[in-house]
Amino acid sequence: KYKRQYFMPPVVTTDWVKKEYIEKAPIWCSVDLRDGNQALIEPMSLEEKLEFFQMLVDIGFKEIEVGFPAASETEYNFMRALIERNMIPDDVTVQVLTQAREHIIKKTFEAVKGAKHAVIHLYNSTSVAQREQVFKKSKEEIMKIAVDGAKLLDELAKEVDGNFSFEYSPESFSGTEMDYALDVCNAVLDVWKPTKDNKVIINLPSTVENAMPHVFATQIEYMHKNLKYRDAVTISVHPHNDRGCGVATAELSVLAGADRIEGTLFGNGERTGNVDIVTLAMNMLSHGVDPKLDFSNLNEISKVYERLTRMKVGPRQPYAGDLVFTAFSGSHQDAIAKGMACRAAGKTDEWTVPYIPIDPVDIGRTYDSDVIRINSQSGKGGVSYILKQNFGLDLPDKMKEEVGYTVKHVSDKEHKELSPDWVYQIFEDKYIND
Ligand code: KIV
Ligand code: ZN
Repeated sequence: KYKRQYFMPPVVTTDWVKKEYIEKAPIWCSVDLRDGNQALIEPMSLEEKLEFFQMLVDIGFKEIEVGFPAASETEYNFMRALIERNMIPDDVTVQVLTQAREHIIKKTFEAVKGAKHAVIHLYNSTSVAQREQVFKKSKEEIMKIAVDGAKLLDELAKEVDGNFSFEYSPESFSGTEMDYALDVCNAVLDVWKPTKDNKVIINLPSTVENAMPHVFATQIEYMHKNLKYRDAVTISVHPHNDRGCGVATAELSVLAGADRIEGTLFGNGERTGNVDIVTLAMNMLSHGVDPKLDFSNLNEISKVYERLTRMKVGPRQPYAGDLVFTAFSGSHQDAIAKGMACRAAGKTDEWTVPYIPIDPVDIGRTYDSDVIRINSQSGKGGVSYILKQNFGLDLPDKMKEEVGYTVKHVSDKEHKELSPDWVYQIFEDKYIND
């Protein structure tokens, strides 16, 4: 019943598999205000978009896709507000999406008139499924849509007041024959004739994630090795997450040659979302590489995100979820408590605490309320840790096991998590007041 809808490139190497980790932050582009916003039950209002934009700037995004101005009045007015209220810092580039249709391109340029620097992002769909079922056009006709759009962008950029550069996306790239995708991108590049001083972006989406991450990465490698004007082209990827592999796809794509990643905070976006930039950035940090984005205040960022998008950050969302640094189980608590003790004793500078991938403090979490929490699964290590950390009680080794069982038993009976105060109360009732 299911056909595999992706295309392997004609030549595949495994060169990039030998790279172990991403050594340098890619160029990040947030598409929260466009792909993320268009997937919301209730898209953000103008004021909400302004607040979200400011948060993205504060996190450190230098490239932000702000919308599809020809698609709605709010999107258009938002772009105008950013320009007219002078809200775009000099080192930030805004980007707007347009289909390759004349009236839409013209309206898009009206929206960005006067921008100090904006990227006009042109797209049309190229996959077999879209060509045959949606557009009912031949390969040549689809290529002509892209080339005509590219020419119109070139003309209008010269006529309209402002400083513009270009991006092209063959939408549904991963479902397109690779030699044809390459021809379409090269034809667009022949119109724009980029130079090192006037670069363009070729953005390669897994519009619907339809292949395993290494397959998409080989597609990126093929484009990286065969695109014309390569030195003047920024290769961007735009992974979606339909198979749940968006993060792996983005990481392997960078190893295979991509320079830039389009994604969103917490993976908001169409269907299962766009790739989650928070996870990508924190994965880099856990390898000791500066991602050049500041998530030291991740709790606050999640709260603002939840308020503005009306979406939820799940409790097991990597790095951001309420429970992702928490251990309830006895053996994990014991190992963490011992790791923390080694750290406190100055035995290691680098973060190597078992079971916790990064230092929670780096993203604004605390050890006390986030890491060791007590329920019926907990053990002596966790209970002693709570009594020591919160109440300065250093239990003798011989007592730890018994106190652990006493506390655990209460949680088992009550079917409840026990707060540190409750743990202390149990200890006090049995060992001090008794
Ligand atoms: O997912 C996609 O293909 C897109 C394009 C418009 C870049 O969002
Ligand atoms: Zn998308």
